[in-house]
Amino acid sequence: MAVIALKAPDIEVTVVDMNAARIAEWNSDQLPVYEPGLDEVVRATRGRNLRFTTDVEGGIREADIIFVAVNTPTKTYGIGAGRAADLRYIEAVARTISRVAVGPKIIVEKSTIPVKTSETIKDIFAANGVGGNFQVLSNPEFLAEGTAVADLFSPDRVLIGGERTPEGEKAVETLASVYARWVPRDRIITTNLWSAELSKLVANAFLAQRISSINSISALCEATGADVDEVSRAIGRDSRVGPKFLKASVGFGGSCFQKDILNLVYLCEKFGLGDVAAYWESVVKMNDWQKRRFAAQIIGSLYNTAADKRVAILGFAFKKDTNDTRESAAISICRDLLAEQAHVVVYDPRVPASLIHSDVLGAGKRDARLTVAQTPYEAAEGAHVVAIVTEWDEFRSLDYARIFALMAKPALFFDGRNIVDLAALRRIGFRVHGIGKPNDA
Ligand SMILES: NC(=O)c1ccc[n+]([C@@H]2O[C@H](COP(=O)([O-])OP(=O)(O)OC[C@H]3O[C@@H](n4cnc5c(N)ncnc54)[C@H](O)[C@@H]3O)[C@@H](O)[C@H]2O)c1
Repeated sequence: MAVIALKAPDIEVTVVDMNAARIAEWNSDQLPVYEPGLDEVVRATRGRNLRFTTDVEGGIREADIIFVAVNTPTKTYGIGAGRAADLRYIEAVARTISRVAVGPKIIVEKSTIPVKTSETIKDIFAANGVGGNFQVLSNPEFLAEGTAVADLFSPDRVLIGGERTPEGEKAVETLASVYARWVPRDRIITTNLWSAELSKLVANAFLAQRISSINSISALCEATGADVDEVSRAIGRDSRVGPKFLKASVGFGGSCFQKDILNLVYLCEKFGLGDVAAYWESVVKMNDWQKRRFAAQIIGSLYNTAADKRVAILGFAFKKDTNDTRESAAISICRDLLAEQAHVVVYDPRVPASLIHSDVLGAGKRDARLTVAQTPYEAAEGAHVVAIVTEWDEFRSLDYARIFALMAKPALFFDGRNIVDLAALRRIGFRVHGIGKPNDA
């Protein structure tokens, strides 16, 4: 919304959220989300044509276009628990809109939702006698955290799905004209509603599948002496495959990939497509396996005795350039190490200590064996293992000779993102381990 406000100064953008603490942060100098470039965009627009408020109903009443971007987490209860999307927040918004909105409105699904959700929204409007006033569009968001602002400035595509009726087409054109202020028209794709809704789930499933595919091959590389980065380079040069998203790692995290694949799996099951569901579910299973494998390799390198040894975890966010930790691989790795009674010391340049504790242990819980360091060097002091889990740029150029000197010996180094020169570390004296590499540890 901040980028729309920047690119379309004539449009008044009001962001409403019922979470007052979050809105207060959006109105402060310390934004709740860390994204490169976001501070500048908010600074340029806030108070001009961008407002943040808790007045949800007022915001709905005044708007011509309403973007619904509420959370759609995986359901944790009842039918579809652990797979289906929990649509209670979407439904609540639809009911609020039907109660307070007057006059024609365009309702835009920005949240990631299962295909056919717009049917539910339209049904709620119709049952409340306001269906005729509203057009529902699907406009899924493809930005990636960490590069969100750049992605929004220059998206590969903007996807808008709408009803194939004259009113639907008109609404699609209204929304397209907002993006067309800075996105070339040939990058604005319009489809029917169901295609747009489904495309978002499929896009994330394909991206996650590529990561699980290369991660599965990383295990085979370690077993055979092949180097997964060399394999990626070789296959990525085939223009049918392409070079992106072929980086082996500790596994994907983030609030979207797992949730959206499980959602796809649930949809397939619902439509009686068991084999299709099992195919996509294997992407998540492979990811879980890769995370557990990394922790198990660390424990194995400690002669299967991690108890009371110190393991430094560098990076806790699910990827670099974000403070988002949702579904981060670091969470499961820390838990596996704590289960072996290791001392785990985490350093992350952006994630606060309180979040690290609550993510690993649960809200309000503490464990003396989990601590948070202020610098990578503090984390490495006395450690038997240093493991990179998030690919923050600063980890590429640490003083590794200093880290080696601080550590217990043998000094074990695990690069869960393949970002450092393992040969150089080996020369310093480390026993090194990369994902899908010929390893000593
Ligand atoms: N985070 C991403 O990079 C990303 C990318 C693409 C799509 N999405 C999708 O966008 C949606 C939101 O994701 P997020 O990461 O921003 O989630 P989030 O949980 O960080 O934010 C959702 C916000 O909605 C608010 N909210 C919920 N119900 C409300 C209501 N009835 N009225 C007012 N406010 C309400 C919550 O208070 C919360 O602040 C999800 O469907 C997600 O899949 C996210």
